Amino acid sequence: ARLSVRDALGAQNTNGERVKVQGWIRSVRSQKDILFLHINDGSALESLQVVADSSFDSRELAFGSSVEVQGQLVKSPSKKQNVELKAEKIEVVGNCDAKAFPFKYKERHPLEYLRQYPHLRCRTNALGSILRVRSEATAAIHSFFKDSGFVHIHTPIITSNDCEGAGELFQVEPSSKIKVPEENFFNVPAFLTVSGQLHLEVMSGAFTQVFTFGPTFRAENSQSRRHLAEFYMVEAEISFVESLQDLMQVMEGLFKTATTIVLSNCPEDVDLCHKFIAPGQKDRLGHMLKNNFVIISYTEAIEILKQSSQNFTFTPEWGVDLYTEHEKYLVKHCGNIPVFVINYPLALKPFYMRDNEDGPQHTVAAVDLLVPGVGELFGGSLREERYHFLEQRLARLGLTEAYQWYLDLRRFGSVPHGGFGMGFERYLQCILGIDNIKDVIPFPRFTHSCVL
Ligand code: 4AD
Ligand code: MG
Repeated sequence: ARLSVRDALGAQNTNGERVKVQGWIRSVRSQKDILFLHINDGSALESLQVVADSSFDSRELAFGSSVEVQGQLVKSPSKKQNVELKAEKIEVVGNCDAKAFPFKYKERHPLEYLRQYPHLRCRTNALGSILRVRSEATAAIHSFFKDSGFVHIHTPIITSNDCEGAGELFQVEPSSKIKVPEENFFNVPAFLTVSGQLHLEVMSGAFTQVFTFGPTFRAENSQSRRHLAEFYMVEAEISFVESLQDLMQVMEGLFKTATTIVLSNCPEDVDLCHKFIAPGQKDRLGHMLKNNFVIISYTEAIEILKQSSQNFTFTPEWGVDLYTEHEKYLVKHCGNIPVFVINYPLALKPFYMRDNEDGPQHTVAAVDLLVPGVGELFGGSLREERYHFLEQRLARLGLTEAYQWYLDLRRFGSVPHGGFGMGFERYLQCILGIDNIKDVIPFPRFTHSCVL
């Protein structure tokens, strides 16, 4: 039978069952008359030990080569593993020129070094673990929403709207080789989506609770450790929500439930990050999970920041957005527990957020979640569901015509509703303690970089 390394390692039957295992050589060690190989196929962090006698030529079996091993699965005499494979036949499927291969046996290469090899770095323990966690986290997020009764919606990648109104759009046009009857393929300017929110609002007007989880794109000219031009966003939209409290409960539930599932489904992979990449992260994450998230208003946040103005490059001031340094300070100030900051100035936020009608310090019912190590992880709000409020906001921005359909949602059975978006890569950074966002996505895209 063909077994994955993971299944071979977990095999109950170790009485010499004949199996075939395929993978890549992670180590070769010769000892007197015995040869030890470790092979890995990405199904688990752990590699399978293969024991061969001296009749096998170790020069053929280079670090990095792909092999197929047939033999007997037996109980290992060593304490390091339960099971090992006694080789009867080892076939090299593809040779590896170990001298030219960028990774060396037994060396722990920094993530920064691995980043130079986006086509090969997935073969290392570090990226192996991070990307398996990414896969588990994707499934965990889907299961959280499914168990909470949300309907999954595929929102479009190509759209004619700029949901956030920030103008950070990538325009979509056919390649110049393609003949289009009219001048413009879609008849309107079309862009890669920055957020599926507006489409989700359409759907929450029918399914009540909806979510989407897909790629989003921002032409942000940023080389920061938390921005990408292409990133994945988890977005939810809920009808009949009347307070930010209700929304924050779902946000906190999503973070804690998904993380708990990940911790229980791939503990070895999470441990690798927590031990070797971000020492101390296990305790920091435990602290986040067992405490209630903190809630402060934007106005309170500014008061807190003003008391330490001297610590910042950018002076905190009411009416000005929070900078990363401010976000990080607030999280520390609140005991390294995630912090919800609510009720931002209307002038700082997009047109769709619900007006708090609170006098001169005009705010909207917005909520951002700031987390240790990363800063902003979630952005959300109650939406302006009142036709006349929305109409006025759109008119002031000259958007009334473009958003007729959006106004329609307020004409035909409007309900109080709200939602949020969570940056998936930032989520992975936060739970694993990974400093640079480029290390938690298989193929990072950012300013001046779109390799492969
Ligand atoms: O705060 P943002 O811009 O919110 C929205 O787009 C809302 N329409 C979401 C909604 O309510 N449905 O983005 C949401 C989150 C941010 O908090 C951040 O975690 C992440 O998306 N994000 C990025 N992640 C990586 N690279 C970028 N360039 C990002 N921009 C935003
Ligand atoms: Mg935001």
